[in-house]
Amino acid sequence: MNVIDVIRAKRDGARLTDQQIDWVIRAYTDGTVADEQMSALAMAILLNGMDRGEINRWTDAMIGTGIRMDFSALDRPTADKHSTGGVGDKITLPLAPLVAACGAAVPQLSGRGLGHTGGTLDKLESIPGWRARLSTEEMLNVLREVGAVVCAASDELAPADRKLYALRDVTGTVESIPLIASSIMSKKIAEGTGALVLDVKVGSGAFMKDRQQARQLAETMVALGTDHGVKTVALLTDMQVPLGLTAGNALEVRESVEVLAGGGPADVVELTLALAREMLAAAGIDGVDPADKLADGSAMDAWRRMIRAQGGDPEAELPWAKERHVLAAPASGTLTRLDALAVGVAAWRLGAGRTRKEDPVQAGAGIELHAKPGDTVTAGAPLLTLHTDTPERFEAALDDLSGAFSIGADDAGVDDFGGRGADFAPRPLILERVSA
Ligand code: URA
Repeated sequence: MNVIDVIRAKRDGARLTDQQIDWVIRAYTDGTVADEQMSALAMAILLNGMDRGEINRWTDAMIGTGIRMDFSALDRPTADKHSTGGVGDKITLPLAPLVAACGAAVPQLSGRGLGHTGGTLDKLESIPGWRARLSTEEMLNVLREVGAVVCAASDELAPADRKLYALRDVTGTVESIPLIASSIMSKKIAEGTGALVLDVKVGSGAFMKDRQQARQLAETMVALGTDHGVKTVALLTDMQVPLGLTAGNALEVRESVEVLAGGGPADVVELTLALAREMLAAAGIDGVDPADKLADGSAMDAWRRMIRAQGGDPEAELPWAKERHVLAAPASGTLTRLDALAVGVAAWRLGAGRTRKEDPVQAGAGIELHAKPGDTVTAGAPLLTLHTDTPERFEAALDDLSGAFSIGADDAGVDDFGGRGADFAPRPLILERVSA
């Protein structure tokens, strides 16, 4: 097999054969195919696409470079959730213990944040003592005892993807639906979950800015899961506005605990319950309403057990950043727009996120929102509070936020801030459902 023939075939719009796919993934993983050759192939795939058969084979080949986990010895069905990432997306934190409290086992292998979307592990690491790295045996023990585990994915799950994703990141080839779908699904299929619910975000703060593209990604992933025997459904959900009222690590843990205590922002509760219901249905568990498990405290009990099982203290005071800066509303009226991407970038600049994989994050950094689109705001009252340990970062974060919101006058149409107040209609959070 010659890698140049494989690159030329895809460059010229041909379908790759099973043998070509198996060989190129193996040869790239063991270093026989060089980074520059794989980046040429990734670009050819980005430009010319792959059909369902090719994507399936590409995914299988990536799974085949590593281990496959097996949860068949557990006494209950497994269900997992994957989000394509958004600003303020802390849903895994209340969702995993909630679904465990309803009777499923939730093996949630998560990642760290890179860029403007936060990582679940970074959020949980703001809890004193909590450990993300577990051996496979420890992970199975937590899953067996608590019903939910959130931990770092093993390096041995689809190692080809780890190498290829890092390459795509620096060669402008992340935005290919076949490559994104096979990347996400190779890890989820290798993880061995029986049911999977995908939260595909759409909007400025998401990977997919456009609903059409998000739908195509969702359909591709649902087909991949289904073809591999994983009961898979996807929800397309709005990410034009940040989720909840916080973006940042410890800030988001506090908000998640509020949801587990039966409170919390309405959008976080709505999405947590919608995803929980989908996970339970896909796992074949019926007759349990997750809303009851939030109300009766059993989801909170599962959260406490899950945090303790990984060395954390669920009762410990969470860290606060050393400095705060309040951004006041410049006018009175209805908040008509609050851009997710700008809030995500500003939170990242304040220290909540990282630029390079090895950078540390600040546990207390981030942004608190005091209003969401549709809310009435008053000139001079707090609109956003910025948190950081390094106050020299406030200026750059405030720059990011300068055009991030609009306030519409309630009586007189469009005002100086570009928004229309009186006829503002909120966007729905859950846009569409995609199933096989
Ligand atoms: N997340 C992944 O794991 N892979 C991608 O390609 C994109 C997002």
